[in-house]
Amino acid sequence: MAKKGFIFDLDGVIVDTAGFHYLAWKSLANELGFEFTEEQNEQFKGVSRVRSLDILLEIGGINATQDQKDKWLVSKNEEYLSYIEKMTDADILPGVLKTLNYLKAKNIPMALGSASKNAQPILKRVGLFDMFDTIVDGNHVQKAKPDPEVFTIGADELGVSYSDAIVFEDSIAGIQAANSVDMVSIGIGDPGILHEADHNFRDFTEINSTFLDQLINA
Ligand code: G6P
Ligand code: MG
Repeated sequence: MAKKGFIFDLDGVIVDTAGFHYLAWKSLANELGFEFTEEQNEQFKGVSRVRSLDILLEIGGINATQDQKDKWLVSKNEEYLSYIEKMTDADILPGVLKTLNYLKAKNIPMALGSASKNAQPILKRVGLFDMFDTIVDGNHVQKAKPDPEVFTIGADELGVSYSDAIVFEDSIAGIQAANSVDMVSIGIGDPGILHEADHNFRDFTEINSTFLDQLINA
């Protein structure tokens, strides 16, 4: 049996921060004079802050200087951080702790693999900073999902081969990233949106120990 490693995205998988990102981008869009819908927000999931701003400006048909963009990146992140500051362990998504604790008790290597530069403060706020053997986040990667860099670094640091890595993701870009290097991809969210995943669940309450054991023993 090969050694398996589990890699978890953060936003929208472990904590419900996807809604906070949406609110902060929506505020900026409204300030710039256009609407930004939850449906449009789907393509922002898993995408870096800088790239997200470029997509938002494309949606609004706005040309901006680098100085303006830098200012908006700061103001978006400030609003986002104001939501983060109020987070507690109650913001961990349903069923997540049960899964993490189950894997931890079995000594299964676990990594965080997130595009966010705010991953570490968020994990500290919700009390999960010590849960992972390694944390790979937006401060460590050059290439954003769907490039698999965040997951390949995670697997390398866990000491598992890519085909023995299991990735939990709520974004299309993240599922594509995992699939591109033959990792097992598990979509958390709408199966219609995440249909490219190897397995789909609406949330972690649908994931039981039998399924986790199957992944571990495959
Ligand atoms: C995650 C989220 C994205 C977010 C990105 C960067 O991947 O899904 O919506 O844009 O992280 O997050 P940050 O906290 O660095 O702005
Ligand atoms: Mg996510």
